[in-house]
Amino acid sequence: MATTHRIAVIPGDGTGPEVTREALKVLGHAADLGGFKLDCQEFDFGGDRYLRSGETLPDSASEDFRRHFDAILLGAIGHPGVAPGILEKGILLRLRFELDQYINLRPVRLYPGVECPLKDKGPEQIDYVVVRENTGGLYTGTGGFSMKGTPHEVAIQSMVYTRHQVERCLRYAFDYARQYGKKARGIGAENTLALVGKTNVLTYVYDLWERAFHEIGAAEYQDIRRDYYHVDACCMWMVKNPEWFDVLVTGNMFGDIITDLGAITQGGMGIAAGGNINPEGVSMFEPIGGSAPKYTGQGVINPLAAICAGAMMLQTLGEVDAGNRIEEAVKTVTGTKLKSLAAGRMGYSTSEVGDLVCEAMG
Ligand code: IPM
Ligand code: MN
Repeated sequence: MATTHRIAVIPGDGTGPEVTREALKVLGHAADLGGFKLDCQEFDFGGDRYLRSGETLPDSASEDFRRHFDAILLGAIGHPGVAPGILEKGILLRLRFELDQYINLRPVRLYPGVECPLKDKGPEQIDYVVVRENTGGLYTGTGGFSMKGTPHEVAIQSMVYTRHQVERCLRYAFDYARQYGKKARGIGAENTLALVGKTNVLTYVYDLWERAFHEIGAAEYQDIRRDYYHVDACCMWMVKNPEWFDVLVTGNMFGDIITDLGAITQGGMGIAAGGNINPEGVSMFEPIGGSAPKYTGQGVINPLAAICAGAMMLQTLGEVDAGNRIEEAVKTVTGTKLKSLAAGRMGYSTSEVGDLVCEAMG
């Protein structure tokens, strides 16, 4: 009997539903070709539901996902009628935390035919992956105010990491580098993992990261080359010499920041996808871009990031060939069809782009 993967779908806000529809179209085609089944169930979490009911996420949601689903596909969260932070924290961050999706995997890969803002850089130079720690650091919300509203008000927001959190993230990154590094993919002499930190200023947190990085690397991953970059310098090299990178690993906040820079070097939010991964549990895949309210409902938004998120989902579910097939089809479409990746300038509508990817898959 064919394998069935149970997928919870959260189309979300703004253009989320439009791009999710195309991702599901492509995933359905991949399933037909690959001989497996996707059993998709939609959830209406997002801004409209919040405005209607006052609820961001029902308390039962995480437990439901954990029990009844193999993965989650998310469109976009963010609504112009809801104050910033409510939906992001109440839905996206809450799911990442409650489902313990401690890895945020964000490939930075320039596909053929995609316009890149970096001079003289092409797909050969821009081809690396950021492993962002996804449940700790500044995102834990540890902190508070004192003397609020007075001229002497104090605000504290702490970067909190445990050895356990750091170790599990590093091990994932080392394993990833061993399996998908540049040597493993036949395009480099070594598999390299670089830690991105700030050991010259954040002398507690990144000291812990650095010690764990070298201890684990020396003991368990001698085949993987270890590099280190301060995060500020890393931003510079991401622009000047992205070809130096293979797999990068970093804490939550730095990972958030550098992956937006990475995304623009791979063609922007129309193409950048990420996976919130719990290697032992339920993972959630999403385009990195937001809900783009101004393009909602016009059929002009680029669905490729959502489609790439779907490809990552299949790869993580073990349907590696099917995921790769989607990725190859996306490359064909960027390389031979689309005029631009920008909303409204693709030369095709949102649903036509989904059709083109299906066609290119054969
Ligand atoms: C991201 C986003 C989120 C983050 C926001 C929306 C909470 O920027 O996925 O990178 O900061 O992690
Ligand atoms: Mn971000």
